[in-house]
Amino acid sequence: MSGILASGSVALITGASSGIGAATARHLAERGARVIGTGRSRDRLEGLAAELGDSGLMIELDVRDEVGVTAALAGLPAPWRDIDILINNAGHDAGGWQVFQDLDRAASDDVIDTNVTGLIRMTSHIVPGMIARNRGHIVNIGSISSFSPYPKSAVYCASKFAVDGFTQSLRMDMADTLIRVTQIDPGVVLTGFQLKRYKGDQAAADAFVDSYPTGLTPDDVARSICFALEQPAGVMIDRIILEPTLDT
Ligand SMILES: NC(=O)c1ccc[n+]([C@@H]2O[C@H](COP(=O)([O-])OP(=O)(O)OC[C@H]3O[C@@H](n4cnc5c(N)ncnc54)[C@H](OP(=O)(O)O)[C@@H]3O)[C@@H](O)[C@H]2O)c1
Repeated sequence: MSGILASGSVALITGASSGIGAATARHLAERGARVIGTGRSRDRLEGLAAELGDSGLMIELDVRDEVGVTAALAGLPAPWRDIDILINNAGHDAGGWQVFQDLDRAASDDVIDTNVTGLIRMTSHIVPGMIARNRGHIVNIGSISSFSPYPKSAVYCASKFAVDGFTQSLRMDMADTLIRVTQIDPGVVLTGFQLKRYKGDQAAADAFVDSYPTGLTPDDVARSICFALEQPAGVMIDRIILEPTLDT
């Protein structure tokens, strides 16, 4: 194995309690990384902790909460403090899938607070250590929505366009360092994302998923993240776009 995963790196994943984040935690741990899994759902994080054993450290963390993020990172045990890999994955479109004029303003604000401000917050906390060690890889989870907008998701699409702009500019700012910056842009992934988008309406979430011939799995996305991380020094994967295709 090559790249930053080769040396027992420490990876912090936001939104590790389900879906893409949980799958990525498993894949990174399998490849020898030590994984700090973060999220708000203590129960689900505890389940992941049991799976990862000594390779995992779970902390409750809400990316919208500056004070809580500062305290959580300050409280990391010494062997876990030098974070080599940041996977900015936490995100949602809760209360979405409606035309803009019907969107709930509080839910829209939450999408921006989580998907954009939270992602920037986590990066700003962790980049200084990466720069001091001149070592690191930041992976931002965008979406097809980062470059291809569609109706009934104006604020979610805006949030993912923002992730894209941030990722591209951040990569330029890191150009004089050995820190790499990658964006992963999946199409539909079969996770709890759709259920939250439809405010817990399982039938509506199922109907949305069924309107596509197939979907990506969280493992598909996790493998693409690992591919970017496993590149040798001197190779930067800027962006990976994944789309589901018919599985024949
Ligand atoms: N599913 C798709 O079709 C799809 C497609 C393209 C991109 N994406 C992106 O992929 C990422 C992961 O989504 P997913 O599909 O894996 O959905 P998911 O299963 O619903 O997972 C979302 C994760 O984000 C965490 N999260 C939400 N708000 C948070 C907050 N304020 N602070 C900390 N963690 C928070 C959740 O953890 P807690 O609830 O425990 O906090 C959960 O672990 C998102 O950025 C999403 O936009 C998804």
